[in-house]
Amino acid sequence: MTLNINRKSDVKEKPMAGATVIEARDLCKSYSNESVQQHVIKNLNLKIRQGDFTVIMGNSGSGKSTLLYSLSGMDKPTLGQVLFEDQDISRMSNDKLAIFRRDNCGFVFQQNYLNDTMSALDNVMVCGLLKNKNKKALAEKAKGLLTKVGIGENDWRKFPSQLSGGQQQRVAVVRSVINEPTILFADEPTGALNSQNSANVLDILTDLNEAGQSIVMVTHSSRAASRGNRVLYLADGIVTSEIDIGKYDPKAVDTEEGKARYARLKAFLQEMGW
Ligand SMILES: Nc1ncnc2c1ncn2[C@@H]1O[C@H](COP(=O)(O)OP(=O)(O)OP(=O)(O)O)[C@@H](O)[C@H]1O
Ligand SMILES: [Mg+2]
Repeated sequence: MTLNINRKSDVKEKPMAGATVIEARDLCKSYSNESVQQHVIKNLNLKIRQGDFTVIMGNSGSGKSTLLYSLSGMDKPTLGQVLFEDQDISRMSNDKLAIFRRDNCGFVFQQNYLNDTMSALDNVMVCGLLKNKNKKALAEKAKGLLTKVGIGENDWRKFPSQLSGGQQQRVAVVRSVINEPTILFADEPTGALNSQNSANVLDILTDLNEAGQSIVMVTHSSRAASRGNRVLYLADGIVTSEIDIGKYDPKAVDTEEGKARYARLKAFLQEMGW
């Protein structure tokens, strides 16, 4: 299966592979609860590159989701900057941020957050219509993508409650990429799925990345992390270390090379105390 997204000429040019898309500079995020202030992200500096499948790992409470929300403009940092293609999104008004997210970001979460009152197809369409006004062309595109992730014609008109959990998450992934985001942010996208459904969703993310989609994914699973090429380890609000394991090759998983690559990741995580 190749999830080649048809890049349209009217869509703004994506940055070159390897170019910095997001840069966090001295990023700090604190939460104040009653009299206590908790510093969750601490002077973090980070560059996210175009074309990478970047993975963020770390213990529960280490700040992974908080970091993802700051990098994607879902939340504003307390101090520091988040530059998205040189635009400082940490200073944007909420209205501008909403447009920025619509135009640049896709999101997948542990829960699929599909609208229960709409069909699978309409869940995707509603998101697509925020940007693409040609309903007919959009429907073709949505149906094509749904088909590619294994949601066939018989399921397009089903409501989320009539689909399996794995199917629902695949619809959510299609919804996240319908507007061809510069970056796809995924926060534990397989966290609520069984191993077969997890593998299906990870295969889709792998295909998207192969087709050029930049991805930033938070996960607790080393198997999921092995789909990335760059794995960051977050501890107590700081990136303590990272490893470049090269791109995942589905055909090489069971070869000596593929096993050695996974062993390197496991050894890295063990060193981090994971
Ligand atoms: N809105 C909030 N208000 C107050 N504290 C928060 C808020 N969001 C997160 N925190 C705190 O920030 C810390 C980091 O939370 P975060 O959700 O980023 O962790 P995480 O690494 O994603 O954990 P998990 O793996 O369990 O999802 C936690 O101690 C959490 O309680
Ligand atoms: Mg989290």
